[in-house]
Parts: sequence; structure tokens; C-alpha cells
Amino acid sequence: MNIKDLYIDYFVSKGHKQIPSAPIVPENDPSVLFNTAGMQPLIPYLMGIKHPYGTRLVDYQKCIRTNDLDSIGDTTRYTFLEMLGNWSLGDYFKKESIGYSFEFLTKVLNIPVEKLAVTCFIGDDVIPRDEESANIWRSLGIKDKRIAFLGREDNFWIAGEFGPCGPDTEIFYFRSEDPVPEVFDPNDERWVEIWNNVFMQYSKNSDGTITDLPHKNVDTGMGVERITAVLEGVNDNYKASIWKNLISEIEKLSGVNYEGNEESIRIIADHIRSAVFIAADEAGIKPSNTDQGYILRRLIRRLIRHAKKLGIDLNSNFEEKLALIVINDYKKYYKELEKNANVVLEVLKNEKIKFNRTLEKGLKEFEKCIRNIDCKYLNKDLAFKLYDTYGFPIELTVEVADEHGMIVDVDGFYEKFKAHQDLSRAGSKEKFKGGLSGDGEMETKYHTATHLLNAALKIVVNKDVHQKGSNITPERMRFDFSCDHKLSDEEKKKTEELVNKWINQGLDVKVAEMSKEDALKSGAECMFIDKYPDIVTVYSIGDVSKELCGGPHVANTKELGKFKIVKEEASSAGVRRIKAVLE
Ligand code: SER
Repeated sequence: MNIKDLYIDYFVSKGHKQIPSAPIVPENDPSVLFNTAGMQPLIPYLMGIKHPYGTRLVDYQKCIRTNDLDSIGDTTRYTFLEMLGNWSLGDYFKKESIGYSFEFLTKVLNIPVEKLAVTCFIGDDVIPRDEESANIWRSLGIKDKRIAFLGREDNFWIAGEFGPCGPDTEIFYFRSEDPVPEVFDPNDERWVEIWNNVFMQYSKNSDGTITDLPHKNVDTGMGVERITAVLEGVNDNYKASIWKNLISEIEKLSGVNYEGNEESIRIIADHIRSAVFIAADEAGIKPSNTDQGYILRRLIRRLIRHAKKLGIDLNSNFEEKLALIVINDYKKYYKELEKNANVVLEVLKNEKIKFNRTLEKGLKEFEKCIRNIDCKYLNKDLAFKLYDTYGFPIELTVEVADEHGMIVDVDGFYEKFKAHQDLSRAGSKEKFKGGLSGDGEMETKYHTATHLLNAALKIVVNKDVHQKGSNITPERMRFDFSCDHKLSDEEKKKTEELVNKWINQGLDVKVAEMSKEDALKSGAECMFIDKYPDIVTVYSIGDVSKELCGGPHVANTKELGKFKIVKEEASSAGVRRIKAVLE
């Protein structure tokens, strides 16, 4: 039986409700590109909002982690992963949580207690030592020598800088043929972490203080890939059953064996799986030069280059064959894969064709540079040319250069890039390190237009209209709002006129930091009050709009151009959706 089924069944038998995997692109959280942990979609509920499914939840969540993207190729890393998670939202706490984990590992998965060890939080001036968890472990039969106490670096968990957090207890498995040492040494790499139980009872605020959450929660996470590899006794995670079909097909297509070509094969396998999941996501991500689209582009282009390296015919439909294996392997658990299969195949094929056209020529530029034996240094002009003319993401240039023992002027590249794109504008936030980050100019304008639209709807339609969601691309904005009826042509027209009137008035956009309490008192609009830290940023536009928001925004509404509603439709019960553009 699949580990996901065993896990869900076990926690359902303990009164948990299964919740569906959330989309890979967070719906209402512009601060991250992808869901990176099972708990991310649950943040508002950990902060105190009531969850419609109750207080005991279980799921498997698709996640994308891009921080390691360029080091994929070893035995343990991936960009896509599935997280098993169970949650208590103010329901059970440490005793039950640890008890369930222990029972699942030792009784359902039949892992010998002898092979397990745990870490607990050592305590500091703010958060006390977690002797309670250690005692629970002892009572279950974990020996003292197998319990290590560690500090914040290791045993305190938070998703980003702020938000719900708490001490955790991590479970380790001894992954080796060697005899299990009596004393657990967390630095001994034969011990691998398999499960993390976080006791989320605090919230970290933007001023660095830690306060109690409305109730004590449990958030646990166990990676499917790792636990599967551990259970199957392989020492290279890519040798686990999860990868079997995909890697066999890569071997078949290239005519080479996994042994001896591990790095490229792992990169192709990992990247095609991630690309399929990103392209199949309901968010409709397409390869581009910003945000999620840029990650998708990098994944596809990098896997194509490694396919070429292994001798796969790039003019064949190899990408389709590989994508179909991913879809087939996962469709039982993720319905969107089959539903959006055509979109996925098209995205892959189009991007391949685009890149194929210039890949050869780009690689020739490299060779020219290498032939000049003095050239150990790839200058910014060539790096930018490879990007601009041949479509090489800078990360790919660095990788190819590295294979030839060359160094790239990456900083110089970014200078040129920024000068070219003017992406360094004030207020633009870097959402991922090293990437061609973008709250680009258009996205920034759409952010501001979103606030104006929200304010206009309150006047034209109803003062009780509230934002329910928003999504911005460089091409358009989408805005979901509570409303019980289809907007009439008259309402749409008036809304448009009002937004354009404010744009033409040239209203200043001002930003202020204040306490959440003051922000609410001042009448600032906000979607999810509990999601925000105690000190919030409030953007005001003239005196027509005031909203909690992370920005970025334009300085004056004059910059926006002409606002036009292109579509108004139902989104879900009691929620309407407007698509609009700035011309
Ligand atoms: N949030 C924790 C993690 O991702 C447990 O789910 O490890």
C-alpha cells in the first residue's frame, strides 16, 4: 500500500478529516511563490480562524522548494516534494501528537524502536526547555541516550520570518547497515530526520517579539520521498520506487545507465516532475521571466540541457513521454494532472521549441570563449547576451561555465539586467534569492489598481463588498469579492468610471506602519486580519482607499493609465470575479 494511503487512513482512524492538497501556488499569499510546506495553506487557521473541516486535519500537500534548485543532482534533494501532515487546531497537543507519530512509525510502518532517536527544544530566555516532550518520548520507550536537546536553529520552527511558530520535536531514523550506536549524535549523518512535530503555540511579530497564539496547535510534516527511501532501505533516494518508472524511461530514451550518469538523470527526473506539477496547477503558470513562470522556465531549460548532454534527441517527443509517466504515476492523488494534461504537454513542448532554437548557438558562444585559453572568466556582456539572445537563464550559464572551470560575472550580469529591465525600482521586493525577481512595473501598477477597484466597488455596489482573493500577472489583474449578484452593465461602467476618475486625479499613494489595532480603528480594509503581524503596513490612496498590504505600489495613481474591466463572472457561491487590465 502507498505510504500516503497508510498515513491518511491512520489519522482518519484517530478522528482527523482529510483535507485536499492546496494548489502549489498559494491563492492569497503574494509573499511566497510556492507552497513550501504542508502548513503554509493552513496559516490563517493556525492563527485562530476556524477551519471548516474542524480541529483535526490530515493531508498530503504538493510543495515546491526552490532554495536548493541549483544543487539538485545529489542523492537527497528535490524541487518538488510531497509532505504528509497532520494538524491539531487547538485540539490535542504534545502527548497525543507524539503518541500518534510513535504508533504510526512503529506499528503501521513497523520501524523498530531501536532505529529511532529524537530531538527536543533545549530552551532559552524566551521559550522554556521542552522537558514535557522528552518525558512523553521516555514513557513510550525512547531511551535517554537517544534524546538530544538542541537550540533554536534546530528545534524551533517558523515558515518565514513572521507568523505562527513554536518548538518542535524531530524524529530521526538510523539509515545504515552499521550497528546502531547506543548514543544518538544528531551530527552523525547516518541519522536522518524523518518527521517533524511542531508545537505551534506562538506567533512571531514583525518587531521580533513572541506572543501566544489564541490556542495551542500541532503541525507535523513528513516528506514522502524520504520516508519511502528509508523504508525501502536504499541509500540514494532516487533509487526508491517513486523514481523507478521515470528513471527507466530516461535510461531508455538516452541509451545510458543511471550508474555513471546519476547527476544528469536525477536533474531530468526531478525537474520534469516539478515542471509537470507547476504547469498542471490551477494557477495556470506559463514559462516567463518573472516569479513562478521563471522557475518553470529554468526547470524546463535545465532539464533540456541535461537531456542533450545524455544524448537524448531533442527533436523527439521525449518531454511528452516523461511527462506522461509523471501524470500516470500521480494522477490517482492529484486530479488536476489528468485534467490539465494537454496544457502541460503544450507548455513543455513550446518551451522546448523556443529553447532548442537558440541552445545550440548559445553553447557555441561558450565554446568560442573556451577556445581562447585565457578565458577563465565569463564577462557580464557575454552572460547577458546568453540570457537575452539565447535564452539562457543566468543560473544555467553559471552551471555550464562551472563545468568548464569558468567563473561568471553574476553581479555584473544583474547590473546589466536591471539597467535593461528597470526591475530595481524602489519598493520592489525580492521574492527569491538570485532569481530575476519581479514585482515588475506592471505588477506594481496592478497592485494599486486592485485597491482602487476594491474601494470603487464599495461605493458603486455595496459597502459590504470585501476582497476574497486576488491574483496579478504582468498582463492583467483578477479580483474576487463578496457579492450576491451578477454586476449589471451599469454597475460595471460606474465602477470603471470611478477608478479612472481617481487615476486622473493623480492621488498620492502613502505608506505608514502602525499597530494592527490602530489600523483597524482607522478603518483600514483587510482580508485576513489574523494573518498579519502586530505591526502592519497600511497603504492609503488619497482619501479614497486605506488597506493593509505588503505592497509594492506606485507613488501616484497617475502612473496607472486607463483601467478597464474585461470580464465579470461568478467565482464561487457569493463570490464574484473581475478581470481587468490597465491600458
Ligand atoms: N512545518 C513543519 C515542516 O515543514 C512541520 O510540518 O517541517
